[in-house]
Amino acid sequence: MPFDIDAFNIEVETEIIGSNFFYFDEIESTNSYAMEEEEELPNGTVILAEKQNNGRGRHNRKWYSLPEQNLTFSIVLKDKFVKTYPPLIGFVASLCVAQTIENLYQLKVNLKWPNDVLINNKKIAGILLESKFEANKIKKIVVGIGLNVNQKVFQGTYIIPPTSIILELKAKDFINREKTLAEFLNLFEEKLLLMLKNPDDILNDWKLRCNLIGEKITLENDDIELVGIFEDIDKDGSLILRTKDKIEKISYGELSIR
Ligand code: ATP
Ligand code: BTN
Repeated sequence: MPFDIDAFNIEVETEIIGSNFFYFDEIESTNSYAMEEEEELPNGTVILAEKQNNGRGRHNRKWYSLPEQNLTFSIVLKDKFVKTYPPLIGFVASLCVAQTIENLYQLKVNLKWPNDVLINNKKIAGILLESKFEANKIKKIVVGIGLNVNQKVFQGTYIIPPTSIILELKAKDFINREKTLAEFLNLFEEKLLLMLKNPDDILNDWKLRCNLIGEKITLENDDIELVGIFEDIDKDGSLILRTKDKIEKISYGELSIR
């Protein structure tokens, strides 16, 4: 069933986030649209698409999502919201996805640094942050979210197995996407405003939901592999790793936990 914008509008209570709302049946990628659209998209613009022909994850990995089943959307942030460390915005987003799922569906959610939302060690949502600079200053941050809601079958091979709300609930009826998106946007606006006042609270909340802190982890990309104890998250969103002989600071998004 297509997304019901009227039903969504009844549930959404935000002032900034989503007050400008675009809905597409089909698009290349909501993040690409938000990043490239020449016409000024106001702060808080939300772009939702039923089908992305080139949905992207980090490092140009693909995001696969069947039409009309899930939530694939991007939020444009500007002005006061971009005067912070961008990774913090990613933490706000993953915390709000977690809280949405817990509030509406009572499922236990874990967060994996930097941007994955997991249930039972399976990936239910991914977040892609992209920023646009002008004269060395961040002009906008685009927060792209793929949340698996009603998809039951995921074809292909995945390092982390995917899951969805319907699968985790073992539900027979479709999960209400309109309510889910509205709850997320309501929480997101509230938490973004909190972040401006108390960024440390965001970091602390995020750390409480990350069950790998204190554990031995392996971080890697195509060329590097690092093993150590996941000590902490820094104020700027970096991961602090204690390896055999030193403390390493790994920038947000440089390496993946495997
Ligand atoms: P990191 O932990 O660093 O984020 P990652 O393996 O999660 O690394 P990303 O680029 O963040 O990689 O996410 C994209 C990955 O998500 C792809 O590797 C793909 O396998 C997986 N993926 C694609 N579509 C979905 C989906 N609908 N649900 C769950 N996972 C998906
Ligand atoms: C990840 O896990 O790497 C992040 C995946 C982010 C996918 C979302 S779907 C909506 C938005 N548009 C995109 O092309 N990507 C993000």
